[in-house]
Amino acid sequence: MHPSMPAVTGTRPRGVTGEQASANWVRDMFGRVAARYDLLNHLLSFNLDKRWRARAVDRIGLLLDKPNARVVDLCCGTADVLLAMEARRGGAIIFGSDFCHPMLVEARRKISGRALASPLFEADALSLPLRDESLDLITCAFGFRNLANYEKGLEELLRVLKPGGVAAILEFSQPTNRVFAAVYGVFSARVLPWVGGVMTGSREAYAYLPESIRKFPGAHDLATAMRRAGFSRVEFERMTGGAVALHLAWK
Ligand SMILES: C[S@@+](CC[C@H](N)C(=O)[O-])C[C@H]1O[C@@H](n2cnc3c(N)ncnc32)[C@H](O)[C@@H]1O
Repeated sequence: MHPSMPAVTGTRPRGVTGEQASANWVRDMFGRVAARYDLLNHLLSFNLDKRWRARAVDRIGLLLDKPNARVVDLCCGTADVLLAMEARRGGAIIFGSDFCHPMLVEARRKISGRALASPLFEADALSLPLRDESLDLITCAFGFRNLANYEKGLEELLRVLKPGGVAAILEFSQPTNRVFAAVYGVFSARVLPWVGGVMTGSREAYAYLPESIRKFPGAHDLATAMRRAGFSRVEFERMTGGAVALHLAWK
């Protein structure tokens, strides 16, 4: 582990100990907010979430054009990345996966409304029901931070990617500008849990969000962890003053 990387091995919601208990807590929490997840996402990010996903999809556009490229959107939630990829897909075959059933129900509703083929499957990102070296591209937007074991998560990405395959991780990160970081800190610690709590009835879900972001490695440290896990090339770009980072990693 990089010397400056916080001693965080995976998400640990407050009051929860152990990997399995953390994963269960995360799954239940997303299950409780699934019906209002999209609305809250757009509202609390001032619609920037759409831009962040669009930028990620732009960066991986060439891979989506590739005939028969196998793509999985991990932690797909309500399928916003999946739909953005479908909208610009060339020859790729795109699947979506998540371990939270109510999120997949929402995803299925959105996908079927648009008559798209993208199959969805319920699976834990730490133990995917996929063959070794079977995918050309894996996307994971705002999901990786929630894994109970980041090293295992990276190992699993490497296992299922073909040599030359790409992992694209879009995730919250730490703002680089001090003034912006201070404003963002107050917004996420105070405003976000309150608005999220009022709108979903689950204040703990929206208290978990800023806490999990604060504990998650910064962009440099995540890149280092990805290289150490075995990715041969890792690039990242920050968005919105560093509040979000997109990491692209090649196997
Ligand atoms: C913040 S949501 C992101 C959803 C979507 N990718 C988006 O861009 O809005 C995080 C998602 O990760 C899923 N998730 C968290 N841990 C997971 C795991 N170990 N395996 C599979 N899905 C997981 C949750 O169920 C949730 O749907």
